[in-house]
Amino acid sequence: MANVRDRSTQAAAARFDTMMRGLEERFFPDARQWVCSRAVGSTLEIAIGTGLNLAHYPREVELTGIDLNVAALEFAAGRARGLGRELRTEVADALALPYPDGHFDSVVCTFALCEVPQVGPALTEFARVLRPTGRLLLADHIAATNPLVWLGQRLLEAATIPISGEHFTRRPLEDLAAAGLMVVDSQRRTNGAIEYVHARRAQ
Ligand SMILES: C[S@@+](CC[C@H](N)C(=O)[O-])C[C@H]1O[C@@H](n2cnc3c(N)ncnc32)[C@H](O)[C@@H]1O
Repeated sequence: MANVRDRSTQAAAARFDTMMRGLEERFFPDARQWVCSRAVGSTLEIAIGTGLNLAHYPREVELTGIDLNVAALEFAAGRARGLGRELRTEVADALALPYPDGHFDSVVCTFALCEVPQVGPALTEFARVLRPTGRLLLADHIAATNPLVWLGQRLLEAATIPISGEHFTRRPLEDLAAAGLMVVDSQRRTNGAIEYVHARRAQ
């Protein structure tokens, strides 16, 4: 969901939701469970999209979701109501979060660092709003370890970067240290093209 203008309707949000569920069944079936089950306390989900993570959070987690796409946020709010859980939503940019320093126990971002303009500044912003003992939880598609898959990703992003800002060969884990974060746990799946990361602030 790179281009906000193209996906400003509920119908587009619904189409994205269906497409994403198809992709995750095939390529990353355990991603949302891996990430969300680790969230604790006051949790900010960045670029929440249509709220596909909502069903996977522990009940006691207090959720706030931000996104640039209003229609996606409305979809996520409807999903939260259907699940009977509280969700605060706010239109906001991942690169300029409208929260004070050290505000959240957990920050979650799935399948969105592939499309923010700059990963490093985004991670610095995520670290800023995390409490000193907080958890940063990520999942994304990244540069594959399989050379053939990697080649396919390079060819694909030659088109997707100019069209929609979607990158396929980034690896946020490599930018964590510069953002003052360190890895607690990580897993790679599907030819190394999908990565889950649990990180914390490097005190
Ligand atoms: C591929 S969707 C993923 C949605 C959701 N995180 C998920 O796992 O299904 C990417 C989302 O990132 C949002 N997004 C892109 N750039 C953003 C930014 N700079 N700040 C906030 N949201 C952004 C898009 O509007 C879209 O909803």
